Amino acid sequence: MTGKRDTRRMDASKNEELVRAARDAAARAYAPYSGYRVGAALRTSTGEIVVGTNVENASYGLSNCAERTAVFAARAHGLVDPRRAALAAVAIHSPQPRMPWPCGACRQVLSEFGDGETVVIVDGAEGTVTTTLGELLPHAFRLEDE
Ligand code: THU
Repeated sequence: MTGKRDTRRMDASKNEELVRAARDAAARAYAPYSGYRVGAALRTSTGEIVVGTNVENASYGLSNCAERTAVFAARAHGLVDPRRAALAAVAIHSPQPRMPWPCGACRQVLSEFGDGETVVIVDGAEGTVTTTLGELLPHAFRLEDE
């Protein structure tokens, strides 16, 4: 068995853990207006998991997506830094029929602390799709581009 295969198996179990955390978080979503509940869980390069949910508001435009809630919480806990591509992976789950593909705003915010290699796992009624932030947001505008 090669080291590469071991690493992939480790990543697979870590990613499953992340999906479970996103599913748990979705149960705590606050979405009384859209009825579309979303949970997100991100893993930093130091192995910490931080979760977020969408949090809606009676003033609709103030609603926040699950992914951004998780990123902001991670920064508030001092766990991510844009100079150290510190966002290893993020899982997003919704129990609703529509798959929770991250919106454009969330892709950009994830990109601030991640990079093209950041793993993005979208989990929902149609199954579990694993991709990268580079696939979802090519030519990202980032701090290092300045
Ligand atoms: N939502 C997320 O939490 N993440 C996304 O990437 C897309 C949309 C939320 C925002 C809003 O509360 C609800 O889903 C319906 O748009």
